Amino acid sequence: MYQVEHLKINFKTVEEFKIFKEYGLQQLSMLEDLQANMIENNCESPFYGIYYGNKLVARMSLYKQCEKNNPYFGSDQEYLELAKLEVLPEYQRKGLGSTLVTYAKSLGLPIKTIARIKSKTFWEKHGFFPVSYKIDGEPNSRLMIWLPNGETGEFAKIS
Ligand SMILES: CC(C)(COP(=O)(O)OP(=O)(O)OC[C@H]1O[C@@H](n2cnc3c(N)ncnc32)[C@H](O)[C@@H]1OP(=O)(O)O)[C@@H](O)C(=O)NCCC(=O)NCCS
Repeated sequence: MYQVEHLKINFKTVEEFKIFKEYGLQQLSMLEDLQANMIENNCESPFYGIYYGNKLVARMSLYKQCEKNNPYFGSDQEYLELAKLEVLPEYQRKGLGSTLVTYAKSLGLPIKTIARIKSKTFWEKHGFFPVSYKIDGEPNSRLMIWLPNGETGEFAKIS
């Protein structure tokens, strides 16, 4: 079975992220912080990953959020924002992505994510459903949510 690890915020993690396709702003700002010596090795990190031997082959970020007037989960309900889920191409379809999502679900909070166009089926298999959301005034179904305890969120579902 694959083991999900809480990744540390350090130079090793930043180096490991460089082979992922989405090496983005979040990681770059992490690097800047490191260079400014602002973040210690044991600081709380939003990143989780799976190693195959010594190699980081899958990762995601999980941010705990809480807002007033959240249209999907209700006011002041804590939820997780799952982003940057990525499994290296040669390790895809072996259950690693599922292992990370299962881990996120095990934390017991509602989850929100923006599905990539090609990954919608993956999220649906994990019980996520699309909710209404607009980009530039146009309806968009890429925002997907998951609710604990088998709730179905009829209020927010779109077809
Ligand atoms: C999408 C992704 C995270 C899935 O991870 P994975 O480890 O390859 O997926 P798993 O092996 O856990 O697959 C679980 C199920 O989803 C299906 N699945 C996986 N990727 C899929 C995809 N892109 N489209 C449709 N179904 C997919 C699998 O066939 C499997 O179904 P099964 O249980 O009926 O056999 C991974 O393929 C990836 O990183 N893709 C590129 C980046 C991306 O699209 N990230 C999504 C975040 S927006």
